[in-house]
Amino acid sequence: MDMELEAYLRPPEMDMPPYPAKVITLATGGKLVVRQVNRDAVPRLLQAVRPTLEVPRDYYDIVGVRLYAELLGWYRYRVRDEFCLIGQIDGLLVGIVNTRAYSPEVDISLHTLAIERGLRIGAHLFAAKMEYSIEYCGREEVLITAESPIGFRRWMIEYDLEKREGQHELGGATPYALTRDLYYRNKERLVAGERPVPEELMQVAEREIIIASEEDILEKILGAKRRIVQ
Ligand SMILES: CC(C)(COP(=O)(O)OP(=O)(O)OC[C@H]1O[C@@H](n2cnc3c(N)ncnc32)[C@H](O)[C@@H]1OP(=O)(O)O)[C@@H](O)C(=O)NCCC(=O)NCCS
Repeated sequence: MDMELEAYLRPPEMDMPPYPAKVITLATGGKLVVRQVNRDAVPRLLQAVRPTLEVPRDYYDIVGVRLYAELLGWYRYRVRDEFCLIGQIDGLLVGIVNTRAYSPEVDISLHTLAIERGLRIGAHLFAAKMEYSIEYCGREEVLITAESPIGFRRWMIEYDLEKREGQHELGGATPYALTRDLYYRNKERLVAGERPVPEELMQVAEREIIIASEEDILEKILGAKRRIVQ
């Protein structure tokens, strides 16, 4: 690789502090480990996103394809200041979230994708990325948009987000802001988890990001409705 030219192509990078992993006990008793991953994890994550590209139901296709591009862009150094958190249960990948820093004051929330449904895993992961932006990176606000009705209910309504002028990075949609103040008002109700993660749980999570088979991923996201849709 011509690193001299590559240096011009790569966007500059801001230093970001580490996100300390946490564990959330789900309604089923399952332990959801939420942790930050670096670029090395991307090829594995893409494996899990790929099956969603063909699922129009609940807008998995548009969210999946955009998330795929953002993760690949990060892996190939073509996206500026992105971070990614994942959720795992017994090592199995059950959800992915990502965000991009716009400035030291503002983050742009990109995507939330839940592979396991019905346990608010997407909601917990979204809350975790807000926690990282506001509490650890010290942003004043995060700009958010929704591509699906479930997303709109989960973010705009549950957090009572503030509608803003202008266009969100995702297709120019209306941006909504989670301000620092709104985050702390919602924190007790919506941001869950305990730290530190017990060592044995962390070891299982870090040993391998297990990806369900394509068949299982489709089964999980489509649930009982799959036979009707396809
Ligand atoms: C939005 C999203 C992250 C929310 O994840 P979540 O908090 O874990 O919530 P779920 O998707 O499991 O559940 C959402 C609703 O669908 C219902 N649901 C659960 N399992 C389902 C299934 N297999 N099929 C369809 N609906 C299901 C739930 O009962 C829930 O209802 P509620 O809102 O009354 O609680 C997730 O739905 C998702 O990944 N959707 C596709 C991508 C997307 O829209 N991302 C957000 C873009 S803004």
